[in-house]
Amino acid sequence: MPAYHNLIVTCPLYCEDLVETELRAAGLTDLKIHHGAVKAKGTIEHAYRVCLWSRIANKVLFPLLDFEARDKDELLTTLTAFPFPDHFSVNDTFAVESRISHTFFPNPTIASLVAKDGVVDSFRRRFGKRPNVDTKRPDVRLNLFLEGNKGTVSIEIAAQGLFKRAYRRRGGEAPLKENVAAAVLLRAGWKEIAARGGPLIDLMCGSGTFLFEGLLIAAGIAPGSLKESAGPEKWLGHDRLLWRKLLEEAADQKRKVLSGRLPLVHGYDFDRTAVENATVNLKEAGLLPYVRVKRSDFTAVKKPAGQKIGGLVVANPPYGQRLGGGANVASLYLGLGKHLSEEFDGYRAAILAGDRELARAVGLRAEKLHTVYNGPIRCTLAHFDLSPANKYRPPREKKGT
Ligand SMILES: C[S@@+](CC[C@H](N)C(=O)[O-])C[C@H]1O[C@@H](n2cnc3c(N)ncnc32)[C@H](O)[C@@H]1O
Repeated sequence: MPAYHNLIVTCPLYCEDLVETELRAAGLTDLKIHHGAVKAKGTIEHAYRVCLWSRIANKVLFPLLDFEARDKDELLTTLTAFPFPDHFSVNDTFAVESRISHTFFPNPTIASLVAKDGVVDSFRRRFGKRPNVDTKRPDVRLNLFLEGNKGTVSIEIAAQGLFKRAYRRRGGEAPLKENVAAAVLLRAGWKEIAARGGPLIDLMCGSGTFLFEGLLIAAGIAPGSLKESAGPEKWLGHDRLLWRKLLEEAADQKRKVLSGRLPLVHGYDFDRTAVENATVNLKEAGLLPYVRVKRSDFTAVKKPAGQKIGGLVVANPPYGQRLGGGANVASLYLGLGKHLSEEFDGYRAAILAGDRELARAVGLRAEKLHTVYNGPIRCTLAHFDLSPANKYRPPREKKGT
């Protein structure tokens, strides 16, 4: 029976429940939700499966030690005494990233520097030499979490952030993070709509993040199967055979589902470069045959002809912050609401708006609102049922339109 370990899966804020659902489905146990993370127990196979299959996780962390320290010297002594050479080679580079709260360090950077010294001293004790630090592309990433005087040092499983799916060669102006796009689609019920055969339509697709994630969700493709290698190659606890087996399993599944029946996934954008970016990204990932991308203003987009099953319309319009704009932005949201109500009767819509005011500017009754962080921007995700009962009523007291 394989050993169960404590695991920490980090994720974007307000997505913890989605990760919990994924981990439960993957068979992990003892799940506990924290701020931006879910703690769980699982085997190495569970951890690898999460790396390959989670649509929402940022990182999978394997805790090496839990400790208590009253000050920086105690932290240094504790880390120096820990056998880090059992976990990675002195010839590999490493970096320490810290998250701290209510503790003796004034900021995470200093915490990382002290932790780094402890790791270096642990190697010096054993070999008389030390591994180098590389903060940009380290072979091994360590993670220090410190709350008050209680802390955990973990090693990151998976070579880079899991949200980087490797399909985005071209980013465009304000691309969504891949796992945030997946969270939006899951919140909007896309998995269920796709299972019924409904289409996905992104009215402002930019670099195509919703198109990719929509296809991966509908087809049941592991996001990790798009990468050449995301294995924790430098971790001495890495089980290469197991990783390879799971990677091949995910690749087989991808081949199988892509030869089956898939829902329509259509993306539009009025910007020529955005359409080019999305097309190139899809082509390089081998997914262009399954998605249609076309240059068009959203006001000209119609329901796919002959489609009886209601689908999902998504849009991540400009917020007026990252893309500039401001004055015209509210009128863009107004126009979006009007077009949705006139054209997409029987569909559902999910609009990732810059804030609540912009979500209101859509002029349709939202069934539900979610908070979603798009980078540092606190956005509002509004869900609409586009039935005739949901009448388009532009809000009166609009400023800046
Ligand atoms: C925030 S970006 C979308 C980013 C996209 N979700 C991604 O991950 O790459 C907004 C997009 O809306 C497009 N856009 C703005 N006004 C539009 C309009 N009237 N019709 C179609 N697209 C529009 C812009 O060209 C831009 O690509």
